[in-house]
Amino acid sequence: MLRACILGTGFAVPDSVLSNSDLEKMVDTSDDWILSRTGISFRRIADQKTAASDLAYLAACSALENAGIKPQQLDMIIVATMTPDMPMPATACLLQHRLNASKAAAFDLNAACTGFIYSLAVAEHFLLSSHYKYILVVGADVLSRVVDYTDRNTCVIFGDGAGAVVLGKDDGEHGILATYLAADGEGSDLLKIPAGGSRYPASAETVARRMHYIQMQGSEIFKFAVRIIPQCAERVLERAGLGIEDVDYLLLHQANIRIIQAAAKKMNIPWENVLVNIDNYGNISAGSIPLILAEAVSENRFKKGDLLLLIGFGAGLTMGAALVRWSR
Ligand code: ACO
Repeated sequence: MLRACILGTGFAVPDSVLSNSDLEKMVDTSDDWILSRTGISFRRIADQKTAASDLAYLAACSALENAGIKPQQLDMIIVATMTPDMPMPATACLLQHRLNASKAAAFDLNAACTGFIYSLAVAEHFLLSSHYKYILVVGADVLSRVVDYTDRNTCVIFGDGAGAVVLGKDDGEHGILATYLAADGEGSDLLKIPAGGSRYPASAETVARRMHYIQMQGSEIFKFAVRIIPQCAERVLERAGLGIEDVDYLLLHQANIRIIQAAAKKMNIPWENVLVNIDNYGNISAGSIPLILAEAVSENRFKKGDLLLLIGFGAGLTMGAALVRWSR
């Protein structure tokens, strides 16, 4: 059976580190509160010259090298991001040019923190239903540009980074076994950047009202995440005819250690099978899942045949899962 499979992975994070003690000097918070309520100690923050396409480029180069694929072999580039370099053109086109991936179609996909899972599903469909052989999927976000560093409810959570995968085809038992995507637009007000689009175009007033920053009702998102993660797992496993006991590793969107713990407990997944890096990077939205995947690959965590369960959730509200039989 033909499947889309991951041929290579890569990631990139900025050098600059923002610690909890740095944040203690910026807002009324404490290392103890942040660590105990979120599990985060550090985040990486891009310098003023670095945009999403720069981190995407570094992650993409590393994934292409890891896969042994040349940029000119790519048929398509999808960049999942909610912090593109600019509203247009797409960050994927900037990346295509920089990689000199001349024959690749290129577009961005915005499903916030679920963007990588959505992009993986789109890429899978193109690989299985067309002549396309290789697709690059990147999740990249520079959230420090849209975080209000006077708002303690949000500024302690987010960081910057990117992860990338190169997808190809496999005609064996390995690769993407199933995906599941969903959305609940009723919750669209819970997590948003209100201004900068066609509803509230940028103006002196929107800037003065800090409407270009992330606004979040954190505890509602928390409850949503803990509720839908096991549902996403059930749906995607059902599609593949597998059970939760078959899962070797859980790679959840890194949003809050308490969400990860609660979801793993609800799904009866042993803690040693759950990958966690939120302590070092915080929540990097679309970059979160490909980054933890690529980091685990660089540490040789997986062996051929391992079953990986990837689950994302985020603004929209969006949610999704992918089940991958590791092939390398
Ligand atoms: N330091 C100290 N106190 C704080 C801080 C802080 N950084 N932030 C909030 N508080 C206070 C609040 O003001 C509140 O005080 P009050 O009781 O006097 O009003 C108290 O802590 C409790 O606030 P809650 O919001 O109820 O705290 P909670 O335990 O829910 O933690 C948090 C907040 C960390 C935001 C949590 O709700 C969370 O992680 N939610 C999920 C967020 C998320 O995943 N977002 C990303 C989704 S992905 C995407 O698409 C971008």
